[in-house]
Amino acid sequence: MRMDRSRELYEEARKYFPGGVNSPVRAAVKPYPFYVKRGYGAYIETIDGHKLIDYVLGYGPLILGHAHPAVYKKVAAQLSDGWIYGAPHEAAIELAKKIRKHYGYDMVRFVNSGTEATVTAIRIARGYTGRKYIVKFEGCYHGANDSLLVKAGSAASHYGISASQGIPNELSQLTYVLDYNDINSLVNLMKEKGENIAAIILEPAIANTGLILPDIEFLKTLREETEKYGSLLIFDEVVTGYRLSLGGAKQYYSINPDMITLGKIIGGGFPIGAVAANHEIMSVLTPLGKVFNAGTFNANPVSMVAGLATIEELEKGYPYRIANLGAEELAKTIRELLEEYKIDGYVSQIASMLQVFFVPRSVSRVKNASDAKKANKELYVKLHSLLLEKGVFIPPSQFETCFLSAGHNKDALEKTITAYNDVFGMLRE
Ligand SMILES: Cc1ncc(COP(=O)(O)O)c(C=O)c1O
Repeated sequence: MRMDRSRELYEEARKYFPGGVNSPVRAAVKPYPFYVKRGYGAYIETIDGHKLIDYVLGYGPLILGHAHPAVYKKVAAQLSDGWIYGAPHEAAIELAKKIRKHYGYDMVRFVNSGTEATVTAIRIARGYTGRKYIVKFEGCYHGANDSLLVKAGSAASHYGISASQGIPNELSQLTYVLDYNDINSLVNLMKEKGENIAAIILEPAIANTGLILPDIEFLKTLREETEKYGSLLIFDEVVTGYRLSLGGAKQYYSINPDMITLGKIIGGGFPIGAVAANHEIMSVLTPLGKVFNAGTFNANPVSMVAGLATIEELEKGYPYRIANLGAEELAKTIRELLEEYKIDGYVSQIASMLQVFFVPRSVSRVKNASDAKKANKELYVKLHSLLLEKGVFIPPSQFETCFLSAGHNKDALEKTITAYNDVFGMLRE
């Protein structure tokens, strides 16, 4: 794939940005990241003129695909009226009403990223309970959040940073890290420390260590144990919210956490984050209470209307039908190819997300980060590069997830399946 202009730009970018990028996973595309000119539906076009079918989709927000007309229309209308006021705007109420309808919580605080959402959720949990300890799970990623950047997934895993420098030990020591899906360790930790734990936070399906699905018993135990010890249960639904269903993982698995964080899809591709919970918990937030949160760009009208337009489309049902069916078909194809070419591996899929792990046969199911780490990451990178040559863009890191959208129509899917068929045999060479 010719990437002359991308290479030039990347060389220039390295003078301005550490590693040439502003978010680390973007540098994982080798030998250098391609630069994007435009996106539409399932496709992006690079600055060097290549058309790629996109399974990264901005790492999750674009469930309708790129430049969806319904989103474009609302954003364009909003822009003509201005884009930030430092005073309230009606669209935030409309978006909050949708979240209340789909997730059942009284109240929302809009912020500007998933990171800000989890920072705020943890602060609320500590303020509300008066406790300082937090429990998280290895491989779950909750943004660049000091309290939660311990054994995190996503780019932290990709670059082997299990504990980020710059975060004092004193702070990390307030975070207990357990194995995902491990009920015994959870019950034991709660028995020992439960009364000091402010909250347990998790990705209800991990989308940041490849894709790892929860056992329903694990989720139920989390709910029981947190209730027993008065700790809050927080589902980080920044990825799963509006992705697994309109009501996210909460609805999909019928588990009722005390608080959720949202992001990505609820901003329709514009910067956003949100915390939602019932009034009793949310009333600790400023200006009602004394847990501080504020933001120049909180609830900015452009993200609000883009999110609303996206959710209105999702309510019609067709985006889920297209994206979910596509993901099922793709997962099936990859499973068949693994069989056909006698390559060891495991394919994880739920709703419109999927990921392949080239794990040895002894791993019959990838259920936690340790299993995911047994995958042959070099083989995954090879798959990524070969697919890119064939016009298909999957995440460059084993520790990310592939997303589909309403734009992934039959044609895009057929082309993708052809590309997988073409490259699979070359994986072993
Ligand atoms: C589950 C989860 N939580 C939080 C975040 C952080 O969101 P943001 O990148 O918008 O800060 C991410 C980002 O990928 C995420 O996947």
